[in-house]
Amino acid sequence: MAYNLLKGKRGIIFGALNSSSIAWKVAQRAYEEGAIFTLSNTGVAMRMGDTAQLAEECKTVAIEADATSVKDLENLFDESIKALGGKIDFILHSIGMSPNVRKGRHYSDLDYNFLEKTLDISAVSFHKVLQVARKKDAINPWGSVVALSYVAAQRTFYGYNDMADAKALLESIARSFGYIYGRERNVRINTVSQSPTMTTAGSGVKGIGNLLDFGDRMSPLGNATAEECADYCITLFSDLTKKVTMQNLFHDGGFSSMGMSMRALTQYEKGLDCNCECGRDEPCDDHKYD
Ligand SMILES: NC(=O)c1ccc[n+]([C@@H]2O[C@H](COP(=O)([O-])OP(=O)(O)OC[C@H]3O[C@@H](n4cnc5c(N)ncnc54)[C@H](O)[C@@H]3O)[C@@H](O)[C@H]2O)c1
Repeated sequence: MAYNLLKGKRGIIFGALNSSSIAWKVAQRAYEEGAIFTLSNTGVAMRMGDTAQLAEECKTVAIEADATSVKDLENLFDESIKALGGKIDFILHSIGMSPNVRKGRHYSDLDYNFLEKTLDISAVSFHKVLQVARKKDAINPWGSVVALSYVAAQRTFYGYNDMADAKALLESIARSFGYIYGRERNVRINTVSQSPTMTTAGSGVKGIGNLLDFGDRMSPLGNATAEECADYCITLFSDLTKKVTMQNLFHDGGFSSMGMSMRALTQYEKGLDCNCECGRDEPCDDHKYD
């Protein structure tokens, strides 16, 4: 159901790779709500993915930009303002990638060149987007910028690897830049901490299937879907949330406030004996869990 919440607003949506992408659902909802926007992704993603198809559906253009390149971002803002006929009201940063995760490097044996890439792509790119936007004065007053995060920024999750550090930095950038951009131009900046979701990036996380199951059992409302995440992002882009800024907003069915649920405990009790052949809570020859 559409409410015209974004009627007259112009945006840039990063990170729609295919129909599973969270950014894809946000674009579809933003279109339904009356927004006009450009889509952006890397050249490789545009060639391998379906961004062009989404652009057609949303009657817009997809503009190539590597979000780690200031030059690409400058061009993206110039081209978007030209294509949309005015300054930007909302931005979705839906970008994440870890070469360490991709190559199966353990957190205690990180490749530091990979780590730099993880941080640059998944967190520093958010600073670059904001810095380029501010220097160009590309965002209208009361504009809204949202980046997607994960609870591993606050708590340790097996297998999330250096993406946890990237998300902690991402959330910090939202606060630090939120202060500057809010004070000067009333632009609000938030992160949405989303439930585990089966997307291309999500499927790279070790044990994502079990993580989804655990999240669902732990959360009183169950995991939040990509479509529900899109609904939440729309409210943050709308004028109904004008004084929300510098926040990390959990969109996770209640997961982040839980310690143990009955559903998770019941499952754990069932699996307790067979989960561990050796009975020890540490790696051994018979039972290696890393
Ligand atoms: N899937 C989950 O479980 C989950 C949970 C919480 C948060 N998130 C976050 O949501 C965001 C979107 O991920 P998704 O799950 O929709 O997966 P996805 O794979 O569909 O999206 C990730 C996007 O990042 C883009 N990207 C990678 N490197 C880039 C670069 N250098 N410049 C520009 N774009 C680049 C990819 O092309 C892709 O479109 C990410 O920040 C992710 O960490 C995902």
